Amino acid sequence: MELLTILEFPDPRLRTKAKPVEHVDDDLRALIERMFATMYAAPGIGLAATQVDVHRRFMVIDVTEDHSQPLVFINPEITARDGRTVYQEGCLSVPGIYADVERADRITVRALDRNGNPFELAADGLLSICIQHEMDHLDGKVFVDYLSPLKREQVRKRLEKAQREKARRAPAAAAASHTL
Ligand code: NI
Repeated sequence: MELLTILEFPDPRLRTKAKPVEHVDDDLRALIERMFATMYAAPGIGLAATQVDVHRRFMVIDVTEDHSQPLVFINPEITARDGRTVYQEGCLSVPGIYADVERADRITVRALDRNGNPFELAADGLLSICIQHEMDHLDGKVFVDYLSPLKREQVRKRLEKAQREKARRAPAAAAASHTL
């Protein structure tokens, strides 16, 4: 399966507010499968459509180590939140950066599954944090937004430098592959 390209901060497309999904159909399910494959390969535990430049409200999550609990959330809404928790978060769109973020400890989320059927889920721990993190992406928000402006600027500079270096290396690697 061809993997999707994950947008990286500070790509302005990560700031897009996603629109609701209107039809849960085979095209959407095919995209969801590619998102799972992309997330597992990265590897990551959550991926929002925004991160693969699709600006519709859905996301995939699997917080297990053996990929045994793939969860799909289409048009998710948080209906209840309780308590506070702090967790050191990372993000596939902000590679190599980890920072403490405070969020609700327990949430109840309502969404559609991959067949378009509504469900409600009470989540705590890592799953709760991951759902909130991915829903932020759908609103054009990245976890570094919770950091101080100074820290966020440092992250932006570090990632832009890494992206420039990657772009410089890529043509050389392509050329080398022709020398055989
Ligand atoms: Ni993320």
